[in-house]
Amino acid sequence: MSTRPRTPGHGAPAPGKLPITELAEMKARGQAIAMVTAYDAPSGRLADSAGADVILVGDSAAMTVLGHDSTVPATMEEMLVLTRATTRGAHRPLVVADMPFGSFQVSDEEAVTNAIRFVKEAGADAVKLEGAGTMLSRVHAIVGAGVPVMGHIGLTPQSATALGGFRAQGRTAEKAIRLCEDALALEAAGCFSLVLEAVPAPVATRITQRLAIPTIGIGAGGGTDGQVLVWHDLLGLYDGRSPRFVKRYAELAEAIEAAVGQYVSDVRERRFPEDVHTYSMPEDELAAFEEAVAVTERV
Ligand code: KIV
Repeated sequence: MSTRPRTPGHGAPAPGKLPITELAEMKARGQAIAMVTAYDAPSGRLADSAGADVILVGDSAAMTVLGHDSTVPATMEEMLVLTRATTRGAHRPLVVADMPFGSFQVSDEEAVTNAIRFVKEAGADAVKLEGAGTMLSRVHAIVGAGVPVMGHIGLTPQSATALGGFRAQGRTAEKAIRLCEDALALEAAGCFSLVLEAVPAPVATRITQRLAIPTIGIGAGGGTDGQVLVWHDLLGLYDGRSPRFVKRYAELAEAIEAAVGQYVSDVRERRFPEDVHTYSMPEDELAAFEEAVAVTERV
């Protein structure tokens, strides 16, 4: 169990924490940023020990962890629990909490209140929110309150219905120009970084060149400053169909199913537990116990 103190308020980074300014320096050095989602203490700890720079507690949790069909149902309370668990496990990486649908759309005030909850109650280092346009004033307000904001444009799953489904964005010149404008506007509003999701690679590369802040791509090609993948996709844990931009680095669902299946059959066949899995007691104590039980059975 870690005794590392969390940052009080949102002042200096906790000891060992990657400073948020390091991301811009990584961009300047041409060093790729590795971001991955995580949703609990074990995944946060493993992402940390594997060397991830940034952990996103994504609202993809609504689908990967909570079993919904989209990210829309994720609530503030659910995201707070997941973020709090993740920050207990992850120490070096920056932990970015994804603001769920409905937590920032209504007003700047509500957006600031909810962003601050992620920092104060869950130990997040920053928040992410989807969209540009009317969301620019939210970014400005949250950054003004002292909470770093990561932007997210391209395919924004919370508005997938309005975008015509889970499909690539910015595939016409006009739409690609709009994405460039949104990216520049989010940078000007104060974002420290920007996720580009499901955007043609040349468009994402061009945006990356135009911005001073680092871009993190998912389905946006190799020209962004960093990459992000969803934990369950990367590890082969999600039973839904993964998008084409996912690379599965393991097939853990199969491994888990095989292991649990083995356990079930060992229980049924009484092969588990073995002697090594049980506790013994001194012979004389056992004899006394048997004797006492025998007496109670005789009366
Ligand atoms: O919620 C999420 O996991 C995300 C990533 C796909 C960027 O927003």
